[in-house]
Order: sequence, then structure tokens, then C-alpha cells
Amino acid sequence: MTLVQEQIEDIVTGVSISPKPEGLSAILQPGCAAAIWKRRPLSRFQTWIDGLEPDNLPKARITIPPGNVGDAVEKICDVCGTPDCAERNMLIDDASALAAIFNDILPTSHLQLRFDVVTTNACRKFHVDVVTARLVCTYRGSGTQYGLSTDGPEPIHVNTVPTGSAMLLRGKLWPEKPNSGLLHRSPPIEGTGETRLLLVLDPVTEPECSTAEVIVY
Ligand SMILES: [Fe+2]
Repeated sequence: MTLVQEQIEDIVTGVSISPKPEGLSAILQPGCAAAIWKRRPLSRFQTWIDGLEPDNLPKARITIPPGNVGDAVEKICDVCGTPDCAERNMLIDDASALAAIFNDILPTSHLQLRFDVVTTNACRKFHVDVVTARLVCTYRGSGTQYGLSTDGPEPIHVNTVPTGSAMLLRGKLWPEKPNSGLLHRSPPIEGTGETRLLLVLDPVTEPECSTAEVIVY
């Protein structure tokens, strides 16, 4: 079975959903605004990450070559006090693998990696990011919401990326025009007590500095 046959068109035009990582390469196809690698993490991993104290979740920003993501995430986990265990290694390996997949699809000298811990309605307005492309994976909490709107600020139908799935989105700087009208936002969670952990990878063509300094915030 070919990759194309395995892809499932979402009800949102221009969003390709696949159960395999190779499906993320659909982002290169004309008219594809976003591609999702739909997956469900192992329950032991999900239980572990859901049970961590928010203060011990990795939270940082760093610009590094894609091949250095594993080492960088390990360092971030050390700084943030993320307990060293098999599940932590899964997280490190997964972030590293997502960076490698991203770099295979859209080769770049450096990536900006962010681990965001979110407890508010951050980025609650539907928008398109000012980047060429962005990979987002919500490891804990509700996933990114998305929908199509070509003539208004809000999509009528809103979909949610499953927790643990990876979404590769085109941004405003993607060369193909016009934009598809696909918008996304962080889910509104303020007041719910929910804590989200988000991995964000952006390609960086001209890194501001070549040092692998981890900014923990
Ligand atoms: Fe965004």
C-alpha cells in the first residue's frame, strides 16, 4: 500500500492525516496546509507525563542543529528536574525523532526548539504563525485546535489534534500562495486546572548565535 493510499483526508480541506510519520511529508504537496501524524502514546508514557509536577516539565527555548535535539532535550530535562527514567528517555528520543523527520522533509541548518508549559489561554485567537513551517506536538493536555476560515476570523468547525500526535503546519512565510485559510489556536483551558506540555519546532535559516545556550524560562 502506498503512502498516499494510507492517508486519510480530514474533513478540513488541505489537512492530511496519516497513522505513519512519513505522512507528514504531505505538507510538500500543493494545497496541503497541514499534515498530522496521528498516534497514541504508550499508556505508561502518558501516565508518567500526566503525573509530573508542572515545575518538573521541560520548559525552555534553544536554537540548535536538528541532530543535537536529543542532547539538548536531555539537558533541558536535567535543568528542569524532570525525573530520569525510561519514560523521560522516550520523551527525549521522540523529540529527537520529530526533529529528524522535520529536517528530512524541510532541511534546515538549525531548528528553534521550544518546550512550553501552558496553563492559560495562550494564543487563544485563531491565527497563522509567522514562520515558514512549524511542527507542534502536545505531549500533555489538549492538542492544538484548527479549522478553515476564508472569510471570517473564526472557523465554524473546529477540530482538535489528538494528544501525542504531531502536526506540521505551513506558516505565513510558506512560498505557495494564496494561503489556504487554515487557522489554528491553543485550546482555551484557563480555569480548568489543566497543564499542557507543548513541543514546538521551527526552522531557522540564520541563527542569531551559534552557541547551544538553553534559555529556561
Ligand atoms: Fe500558532
